[in-house]
Amino acid sequence: MSTPPSTGSLDAIVRDAIAAFAACRDPAALENAKAAWLGKTGALTARLKALGQLPPAERPAAGARINQAKEAIEAALVRRREALAEEKLAGDLAAQALDVSLPGRGQGGGGLHPITRTLERVEGLFRSLGFTVADGPEIEDDFHNFTALNTPENHPARSMQDTFYVDGGLVLRTHTSPIQIRWMEGHPPPIKIIAPGRVYRVDSDATHSPMFHQVEGLWIDEDVSFADLKGVITEFLRRFFERDDVHVRFRPSFFPFVEPGAEIDMAFGEGRWLELAGAGQVHPNVLKAVGIDPQRWQGFAFGMGYDRLAMLRYGVADLRLFFENDLKFLEQFR
Ligand code: DAH
Repeated sequence: MSTPPSTGSLDAIVRDAIAAFAACRDPAALENAKAAWLGKTGALTARLKALGQLPPAERPAAGARINQAKEAIEAALVRRREALAEEKLAGDLAAQALDVSLPGRGQGGGGLHPITRTLERVEGLFRSLGFTVADGPEIEDDFHNFTALNTPENHPARSMQDTFYVDGGLVLRTHTSPIQIRWMEGHPPPIKIIAPGRVYRVDSDATHSPMFHQVEGLWIDEDVSFADLKGVITEFLRRFFERDDVHVRFRPSFFPFVEPGAEIDMAFGEGRWLELAGAGQVHPNVLKAVGIDPQRWQGFAFGMGYDRLAMLRYGVADLRLFFENDLKFLEQFR
């Protein structure tokens, strides 16, 4: 226990404090002793409160002296804390309670998210097929997300994509197709790009999440046909799954921005099909919307959900698991 604070001169208070700190043998005792000098009911606080009784002219100088004393006591406290910590370390080392030869705990390896790994694979494979990787904003305007994609206002196909509206007529993009438009606005044909990214829809079940990922593809030249589309997609899936016997099916379907249009399914398990992409020959109206002559240029586009590729590749049954950020799940993919 500490001695009670002196009521004498400031120098005496400082001396007593230092002596009391020195007498403390462990950190808990030291923190208790601190209160007697620096705490609310401590000796210095009492002095500060008494300042008001001095004549005003004497107060500043008296206040400064009290503060000096306080700083001296605080410095002594810090020195004593450090000394006690060093004593403890030296004691532990001597008692061999601390084995400094043990290996460190390390930071843990970290790793890439399975969707990121899938994306890197997708990009690498499409690059090897001659595609450039493009990018676009996640918050889109109406023109790029819909109108330029041959989906004018009040077109029923807009309601196929239940949309998150943002202020000012903007949307969280419902697909990566607007990147086709943005790219064509800035680059004349020939064009051969993919464009991956996040997309958003009001949708949630085992194969749908309100945020998911698509990779858009666009190949425009003078003679790019639906046969090229089939060739590129099939070759990509063979390489992605490292199998020659992938079964792909092109089902006729409607998307306003292509004609003809198709949905692409891949077989998995026992006779089951999973839809991977929408695709088709780019509609002349889309080319016209960006000032490209559809008489001269033609080609295909596709939009593929690569979360689904990750599900198939890793055998994950529920898409939403990827986005719950449960480390027990994610660490399996390191
Ligand atoms: N954007 C479509 C969707 O998200 C998918 C799609 C279909 C993309 C056909 C395309 C395409 O590029 O040609 O449902």
